[in-house]
Amino acid sequence: MEDPALRSFDRHSLKLGLFGLNCSGGLSATLAPERWEGTWSQNLAAAKMADEAGLDFLLPLGRWKGYGGETDHNGGSLETLTWAAGILAATENIMAFGTVHVPLFNPIVAAKQMVTADQIGAGRFGLNIVCGWNEDEFNMAGVEMNAHEKRYEQGQEWVDIVTQAWTSDTPFDYAGDHYSVTGALMKPKPSTKDRPMIVSAGSSDRGRAFAARNSDMMFTGIRTAIDDISGDVASLKAEARGYGRDIGMFTNCYIVCRPTRREAEEYHDYYALEMADEGAVTSLVARRNQRGRFDDLPEDMRRNLRQRAAGGNGAYPIIGDPDDVAGLLIRLHEAGIDAFAIGFANYTEHLPYFRDEVLPRLEVAGVR
Ligand SMILES: Cc1cc2nc3c(=O)[nH]c(=O)nc-3n(C[C@H](O)[C@H](O)[C@H](O)COP(=O)(O)O)c2cc1C
Repeated sequence: MEDPALRSFDRHSLKLGLFGLNCSGGLSATLAPERWEGTWSQNLAAAKMADEAGLDFLLPLGRWKGYGGETDHNGGSLETLTWAAGILAATENIMAFGTVHVPLFNPIVAAKQMVTADQIGAGRFGLNIVCGWNEDEFNMAGVEMNAHEKRYEQGQEWVDIVTQAWTSDTPFDYAGDHYSVTGALMKPKPSTKDRPMIVSAGSSDRGRAFAARNSDMMFTGIRTAIDDISGDVASLKAEARGYGRDIGMFTNCYIVCRPTRREAEEYHDYYALEMADEGAVTSLVARRNQRGRFDDLPEDMRRNLRQRAAGGNGAYPIIGDPDDVAGLLIRLHEAGIDAFAIGFANYTEHLPYFRDEVLPRLEVAGVR
């Protein structure tokens, strides 16, 4: 029998998926009328379209509260484990991730929810671990947001318990600083290999160390010149080898693809500059630059950062005609990026052109 995990994720060298469709606005903080609402029926339509197009995965944002602004960007969000269960029941081959906030989910409860999703999808469920970064979301749940290092320490305990629950055939105890578990035994077990695929999102050195130790893929933004990516990937892989593991690179991007480069740039300027939801963009930029000094940056850099926030929640922009888009994806893949989690301003309106024009180019190039 064909390995279901292989069927869903390892079919292609360059892996593609939709990112953020479970939230209002998706990755686009825009007032443009075609902006993504993120209703369940839209999610279902996008998921089926992506599945039929042969994309590899669907990745939700873990959001509990919106970014404000006129649209309250991302304020309407579907919880990701229940979302994944519904998506997996309605699709055939595509993988669906849950984006799970460590501090908000008891690990035993989460492990059981994830096994259930894994069973529904016959091995197509994946876990994206987020240790959390928005204090207002913690406050909303009455949970204190720990300091950075402590969040990752808690994450380590959480993932240790979850993986033990998934793999141990005998009852186990666990006594940590954050969790205490007695006589835990979980049935059924995940349906593929030892456990579902694990991705973890982060960008700090601590986040990389966590990924190297625990994850099949590190989910991180592109922050370097393309020529520097391969060195970066090599050092992450070396770190993972220290734990006897291999690791891949998973990144977030947003795509505007039109018949000509000029049309793509015009649409990008339209929805992510002229029609940007300025209130939401200010909030996004402030949160994402907690350690930076946005106001001290030169004017053109501030403008780019704001456009990137409005266009793709800060993800890497891929803007152009089908040759540009396919060419850049291939270049980034050759540099070491395995998987691209993509935002479109409107998933169901914009995916068909990408499917018809970019996917065949990637196939001809032999990366899919
Ligand atoms: C590409 C990427 C995607 C992320 N997605 C989410 C998300 O959907 N929800 C969330 O609460 N945090 C998300 N995070 C936040 C991380 O899980 C992490 O808490 C944060 O980046 C702080 O850790 P760091 O200092 O290691 O980057 C994301 C981070 C990155 C880099």
